[in-house]
Amino acid sequence: MRKKVIAGNWKMNKDLAEAERFIVETKNSVPSGDKVESVVCAPFPYLSALVEKAKGTDVQIAAQNMHFEDNGAFTGEVSPVMLKDIGVTYVVIGHSERREYFNETDETVNKKVHAAFNHALTPIICVGETLEQRESNETMSIVEYQVKKALEGLSEQQVHDTIIAYEPIWAIGTGKTASSEQANEVCTHIRGVVNGFVSPDAAEAVRIQYGGSVKPANIDELLSQSDIDGALVGGASLEADSFLKLVEAGA
Ligand code: G3P
Repeated sequence: MRKKVIAGNWKMNKDLAEAERFIVETKNSVPSGDKVESVVCAPFPYLSALVEKAKGTDVQIAAQNMHFEDNGAFTGEVSPVMLKDIGVTYVVIGHSERREYFNETDETVNKKVHAAFNHALTPIICVGETLEQRESNETMSIVEYQVKKALEGLSEQQVHDTIIAYEPIWAIGTGKTASSEQANEVCTHIRGVVNGFVSPDAAEAVRIQYGGSVKPANIDELLSQSDIDGALVGGASLEADSFLKLVEAGA
């Protein structure tokens, strides 16, 4: 049985006081990390303070992106070395908003995934199709391509340890959640891709989240699906009480 992983992606939201208050309000209430992984994906400026606040609890702190180089002339970028140095443990890679607005490509996603493992950071790799691609019946081929490019060159054990987040772009921030059947169909396909591209063991072990308008009202049905092992949540993760409900659903 794969342990569920519930991650809240705050995107570009909150100020430092709100961010710290969130951790204080949740860190002693989340279920044990033995039952479910609780991950908060916060903006870069707050990561160090939140790692400190969450120390000794079951709340893990994640970055929402990173560069793939360890250091160098990359003005404005943040390296995996820096994230590791301050105690971050997960990193979201390839979110659709980074692909759309900030020139993230399948190639840079793969480089970042390798860099994450080189620094013992768990990658949460985002894949997903646009509404146009879904309506053109291209969902499975698009997601298959993204998954294979992202996992290229990884060892079987690294794939075991990877988290893949299926986020249909048309469901992000729209309130239009994919049905649990639609979501599971794609997650099952993703697991099948890993089975053929890497190994049956890796396919069995890899965790696959769903993301796209997940909220406390719909998470139970989503998590009851055969191939959905968690959720990557935006809007509904911003409030502590809502985040706690989401994590409890995964325990
Ligand atoms: O990364 C999670 C995010 O893209 C989903 O956002 O607001 O639809 O839950 P939201």
